[in-house]
Amino acid sequence: MPSKNWIIRNPGGKNRVLVTKELPGQLWLDRLTAAGCRVEICTSTRLLRPSEIREAIGQNCRAVIGQLTEAWDRQLLACLKAAGGRIYSNMAVGFNNVDLEAATEIGLPVGNTPGVLTETTAETTAALTLAAARRIGEAERFLRAGSFTGWLPGLFLGKLLWGQTLGVVGAGRIGTAYAKTMLQGHRMNLVYYSRRRSAELQRFVSAYNAFLRTEGQEPLGCRRAESLEELLQTADVVSLHTPLNDSTRHQIDARRLSMMKTGAVLINTSRGPVVDEAALVAHCRDNPEFRAGLDVFEEEPDLKPGLTDLENVVLLPHIGSATGWTRRAMATLAATNCAGLLLGYPLWSKDDMLPFLEQDPPRATPSIVNPEVLKK
Ligand code: DGY
Repeated sequence: MPSKNWIIRNPGGKNRVLVTKELPGQLWLDRLTAAGCRVEICTSTRLLRPSEIREAIGQNCRAVIGQLTEAWDRQLLACLKAAGGRIYSNMAVGFNNVDLEAATEIGLPVGNTPGVLTETTAETTAALTLAAARRIGEAERFLRAGSFTGWLPGLFLGKLLWGQTLGVVGAGRIGTAYAKTMLQGHRMNLVYYSRRRSAELQRFVSAYNAFLRTEGQEPLGCRRAESLEELLQTADVVSLHTPLNDSTRHQIDARRLSMMKTGAVLINTSRGPVVDEAALVAHCRDNPEFRAGLDVFEEEPDLKPGLTDLENVVLLPHIGSATGWTRRAMATLAATNCAGLLLGYPLWSKDDMLPFLEQDPPRATPSIVNPEVLKK
């Protein structure tokens, strides 16, 4: 039994499951209880050290629900496996904090929580885009500081998004939802950079253009960029939606920043290290017309020196998926991944995760990112 700061739910359950942070809602706990789990929850908001997690795992632990702030490296994953662990479940869609190769070698399934934060994160991305383009943070600080002495023709002139070109890097679920929002809301033309052509985006824009034509309006453009460079040179707003891996670390560096339009807007709600943050600080300092909106940082929760001094940058504390509905849904999926595996349920084969939020969920395990381990 771990030391203080841990509470126990369903103490009589036979499968011991650790949860490294308190989670919102009740359904997640009901799922684990129904699967015969004794649930031990850490009530501290402090980031746990790996040694504390190892100590909490002990000799007997079937599953852990962990957070993106924890580094689940080979040692920690091996410790869970040695304690009888059947799954590590990340309460996030991203899993760059997990050594997936090691988990797969060790034979430990890794769960994540896709499909329930798509629109929520797309909305945060849209909010950051508008805030950066229209200087919302800067203007609010000015007002709160008592500097507003009345309307002026030239006060806080921002950038109009209507009819401009949107560049979306990574046309997965969130990038696609964000692109649809910005195209419909601001009639932006789309250029996207993605490994594959997005049939969904192409279909969406064709259908939307058919509607615009019936209204006698100009259709919107939509094309896949040949290269990231081409997108960066063309777009007025660039939004990053790539997963973090070795090939996307510092994808936006000083060289690529210098290719962007001097008055462009750069938005990052993916993972901090996708952008070379020190290079971004220098770029924003040298180009006051450039704007950035960041929800994620290279060394969270720390920010690179100079970032908070810049008026042309809008900063959020990694709240892309922070709505009550989404966080309860993420907790439910993370727990259902554990329950599903412990009950021996097969892997869910559809994209739609909403059935798992019902009181009577499918008898399946929602999302395992290394499903090959289940075949062994
Ligand atoms: C995720 O799920 O990967 C997000 O970053 C959490 O909001």
